[in-house]
Amino acid sequence: MKIWEDEKQVYIRAAMARNDEEQNRALKHRLDAVDWSVLEQIGRKETVNERGAFAPLSAVEIGEIAKRGEEFCEIGLESIRAGKVGAVLLAGGQGTRLGLDRPKGTLCIGIEKELYLFEQLIRNLMDVTDAAGAFVPLYIMTSNINHDDTVAFFEEHTYFGYPREYVRFFVQEMEPACDFEGRVYMASDTEPAMSPNGNGGWFSSMVRQGLLLDLKERGIEWLNVFAVDNCLQRIADPMFIGATIAYGCESGAKVVKKAEPEEKIGVLCTEDGSPSIAEYYEMTEEMATARHENGELKYAFGVILNYLFSEKRLEAIADAHMPIHVVEKKIPYVDEQGHAVKPEAPNGYKFETLVLDMVHMMRDCLPYEVEREREFAPIKNLHGVDSLDSARELMKGCGIAL
Ligand code: UTP
Repeated sequence: MKIWEDEKQVYIRAAMARNDEEQNRALKHRLDAVDWSVLEQIGRKETVNERGAFAPLSAVEIGEIAKRGEEFCEIGLESIRAGKVGAVLLAGGQGTRLGLDRPKGTLCIGIEKELYLFEQLIRNLMDVTDAAGAFVPLYIMTSNINHDDTVAFFEEHTYFGYPREYVRFFVQEMEPACDFEGRVYMASDTEPAMSPNGNGGWFSSMVRQGLLLDLKERGIEWLNVFAVDNCLQRIADPMFIGATIAYGCESGAKVVKKAEPEEKIGVLCTEDGSPSIAEYYEMTEEMATARHENGELKYAFGVILNYLFSEKRLEAIADAHMPIHVVEKKIPYVDEQGHAVKPEAPNGYKFETLVLDMVHMMRDCLPYEVEREREFAPIKNLHGVDSLDSARELMKGCGIAL
């Protein structure tokens, strides 16, 4: 049965009742092009996160990094100069908690002057490229929803001084969004509501858009993947790259020491012997509070969405199945009466794969500790925890003029 024949699909059918024949022909065509199997994940949403046996994983801590800093830095800078390092900015999200109707990176984080999130990230990257005396290719993932605005913003601001030929954009795939009953929402009477498919599909999207060739032509061996919303993000950090190489690992994750056992941050550990991330809601109280004899937490290091992956390994796992997470989100839609609704609270599901699941596909992952106050200022909300307000305070603490 076609989805538009299914009586359960009330939003689709109500829209069709309002459309004329030609509109419906186009709508059916659009609906038939979507792979609806993702809706089956709703029934499996409790089991997608069924996990193996977790065990703690110790990190390379700040003290150790300081001792070997020069060595790590030299290895990292050497790789950058040899053109072996690329950076991937994940900017396809919708930033629903922030409530912006434009790309998150266009947010002005300055107070007395104009300073945009994208601009700050480019500055952070240029700290490294200035030191290395070489540029790092930057791949920016967008979605259909924010692609044009993102590219236009970079163009308008002449890439904030970064050479244009080192920047490539690519668009991630979309998945349908539905209510809690699995009824697909409509974005308008002629379009189903589609959302970006999470931040886990970035490498396969790069491959699909022909960027593997670009990686190969440039000789890139390492990709540093990072989130758009951490304005203190150190990108292509030579010490991090150097440490991952020096330890002989095929991936690395920047981590911060947890502020308290209950902190809502995913923890880098092992799962059935392979590196993995236990989300804060997956940790039992016993796990969260377990301590070593010296009093330190056993699961002490949280991830900040800054990973380094070996390009070869990424290619090897490119076709592997990734778990699909069913995530509750606020989804704007057109109701059965034809009214546009902008929900205040989550009203349905989006389907996402997550970059953190990629870590579990690696044979090893180096947990690399960084100072939270220097490198972790995520902007998820306008105010409160992980907000524009808290990020501004942290930036000021780092001496950044706002
Ligand atoms: P979040 O999980 O914070 O999602 O993204 P979000 O869409 O930005 O914000 P909310 O949850 O709707 O408020 C973490 C990082 O992953 C990227 C985001 O742009 C951000 O850099 N991301 C997320 C994508 O690139 N694509 C996605 O589909 C989702």
